[in-house]
Amino acid sequence: GLGAAGTVALAGCSGGDGGDGQETITIGSDIPYPPFEYRTESGELVGFDVDIAEAVFADQLGYDFEFQETGFDGIIASLNNANFRVIMSAMTINDERAERVDFSDPYFTAYQTVLILDNGEITELDDLQGESVGVQRGTTGEAAAEDLQSDFDGDLEIQSYDQITGAFDALLNNQVSAVINDNTVSGDFAAENEDVVFLEGEGVAADREDAPPYLTLTIEEYGIAFRQDDDEFREEVNGALATLREEGTYDEIYSEYFSA
Ligand code: ARG
Repeated sequence: GLGAAGTVALAGCSGGDGGDGQETITIGSDIPYPPFEYRTESGELVGFDVDIAEAVFADQLGYDFEFQETGFDGIIASLNNANFRVIMSAMTINDERAERVDFSDPYFTAYQTVLILDNGEITELDDLQGESVGVQRGTTGEAAAEDLQSDFDGDLEIQSYDQITGAFDALLNNQVSAVINDNTVSGDFAAENEDVVFLEGEGVAADREDAPPYLTLTIEEYGIAFRQDDDEFREEVNGALATLREEGTYDEIYSEYFSA
């Protein structure tokens, strides 16, 4: 299984210059979280974050890099314990986290959304009052569920799972009535499971041009997280991210994972 105990080296170095003794950037990440970080059937680590890591750390900056699997809840403590150099894990930039880490410039926009079974039982957010929702522990999805819980004066049960797959399984097995999670990741799951759909409705992102066509609870941006004493490296990475955008590499990677 994909238990969070310990860390496992998952993926190797950049094309071409591996093995020449240069510095290896270690990247902490919770896996699976498709399409950002997940394994193919043959075990290869792939995803949007993996491709961005390759472009930034290897192609632009000339380092080797290696992903290390680690649980999402506690990933910031693990970074600050120097278990790896950075976090790249579809991590949302927010104030609470920014007290403990420094973030790169944003590299992806995401929305918290509500995934439900396609059985007509839940048709609006208020229908979740008195029900239970599944989330991944330590995520902004969990925080959004807590906000909803206080909107309902506590009348919402939150089931937190170590990995998002646990929440998805619980939805399929009728153990929770909804999953609150990042839109593209839930979208990937919905694309493969005809039993689940997004809850529709006017959300916080309704007036945004590129917003998803269903209910959005939050608007978020992903960043790479660094220890707070790693400014020089963070600036290097920000420069590389800007270059990726200028050179069109970002758009190329984006369109591999997300249709326009
Ligand atoms: N974007 C959300 C957050 O930052 C969820 C991230 C979960 N990432 C993962 N690789 N499991 O809280």
